[in-house]
Amino acid sequence: MENITNYIQQNKDRFINELIEILKIPSVSADSAYSQDVIDTSEAVKLSLEKAGCDKVEICETNGYPIVYAEKIIDPNLPTVLVYGHYDVQPPDPIELWTSPPFEPVIKKTNIHPEGAIFARGACDDKGQMYMHVKAFEYMIQSNTLPCNVKFMIEGEEEVGSVNLKSFVENNAAKLKNDVILISDTGMISNQQPSITTGLRGLSYVEVEVTGPNRDLHSGLYGGAVANPINILSKMIASLHDENNRITIPGFYDEVEELSLEERAEMAKAPFDIENYKKALDLKDVYGEEGYVTNERNAIRPTLDVNGIWGGYTGQGAKTVIPSKAFAKISMRLVPNQDWEEITELFTKHFIAIAPKAVTVKVTPHHGGQGYVTPIDSIGYKAANMAYTETFGIPAIPVRSGGSIPIVALFEKELKSKTILMGFGLDSDAIHSPNEHFGIFNYLKGIETIPLFYKYFVELSK
Ligand code: BES
Ligand code: MN
Ligand code: MN
Repeated sequence: MENITNYIQQNKDRFINELIEILKIPSVSADSAYSQDVIDTSEAVKLSLEKAGCDKVEICETNGYPIVYAEKIIDPNLPTVLVYGHYDVQPPDPIELWTSPPFEPVIKKTNIHPEGAIFARGACDDKGQMYMHVKAFEYMIQSNTLPCNVKFMIEGEEEVGSVNLKSFVENNAAKLKNDVILISDTGMISNQQPSITTGLRGLSYVEVEVTGPNRDLHSGLYGGAVANPINILSKMIASLHDENNRITIPGFYDEVEELSLEERAEMAKAPFDIENYKKALDLKDVYGEEGYVTNERNAIRPTLDVNGIWGGYTGQGAKTVIPSKAFAKISMRLVPNQDWEEITELFTKHFIAIAPKAVTVKVTPHHGGQGYVTPIDSIGYKAANMAYTETFGIPAIPVRSGGSIPIVALFEKELKSKTILMGFGLDSDAIHSPNEHFGIFNYLKGIETIPLFYKYFVELSK
């Protein structure tokens, strides 16, 4: 049987077309208008795993969207790799900013992807990266080189907090038993410099509601005499950061792990160009917590951000009104050791405490999860690094990411195994943004690198 590079060359059009078919289904988990599409996508993923050569493929129903589980057990005495990914995607909004429709995938060339990239919602996060594993597995089956057992667990609720996956993992520890968990749902530094994600931030996501008068009021008749919930909410939100951009919630930093100067110096070795960073985002300057550089601010430091804020009149023209209510969605990115439930509680207490008597405040927690850090001396990390070194020609650099995959910390707790985050996306791939894309180079490189991870993981496990 041919080697992997030949196999990819011969099959790459099919690999791309199969992914395009999956990308056409709008599996937006956050919006119930798409619920049938999310379910259809789980079926498409199931079918692809069957075709690739899994023995047992199941749709596991949950209280929400189904989890696709599949396995190929070749010898119970060999190690088992558990692959996790998600088939749900973020909403495509704002849809008018897409240069081509989000669920009609097209291949376009970009400066960073001269070989072309597939533009579609979910191309990189995570359908494209998840499907690399299906195709890498197909190759190992076709070439008779699968060196160990594989289990796949592909969920449909990652973008809304993996709420039902939690109990699935807790109730199915034996079924999911593995020696290492492999995930491609993160990024790497560049197409010339691979990296392995060694940390993820935790998350606490809340919604707040501030109520003033019991109805919208004429802003002339009542203005100045009653609390305007939007004014109050803005003030409250502004007070959550001090002049050094540190978060003012009492106790917020208590458990934050402070990295040593040596560790920070090590982090600073990863290639990063602040001028390019600003240019890519059309920024005159960066902004963040005093005392930390950009790559620390977005990885090893916790944050608090308003994700959306609304209330009052936002239609055409002017309407003079004091709204009855104002709302905001607020996320806090957390670092290892900060407990997300504790932080949610600290936020709630503080937010209620700082509200003036003239308004009523309600805080509704949405979802959350713990942060994650993983050592670089594990067998899994070494195997991943060997795989990258072989396909990219240089070793991977360990990088802590600012993003969150809340379920990863739970995997370690319940399944007692380490997760290896082999991401092939780039920050410029615009995940969650308009015009999300995934480089053809990255897609095929992923398919090429994954079988080597299996090979080296099994070798190092002996
Ligand atoms: N794949 C991302 C997380 C990610 C992307 C981590 C790039 C590191 C690098 C994941 O799908 C995601 O978007 N997670 C959410 C959290 C979730 C609970 C909605 C996030 O980070 O906002
Ligand atoms: Mn993802
Ligand atoms: Mn995502």
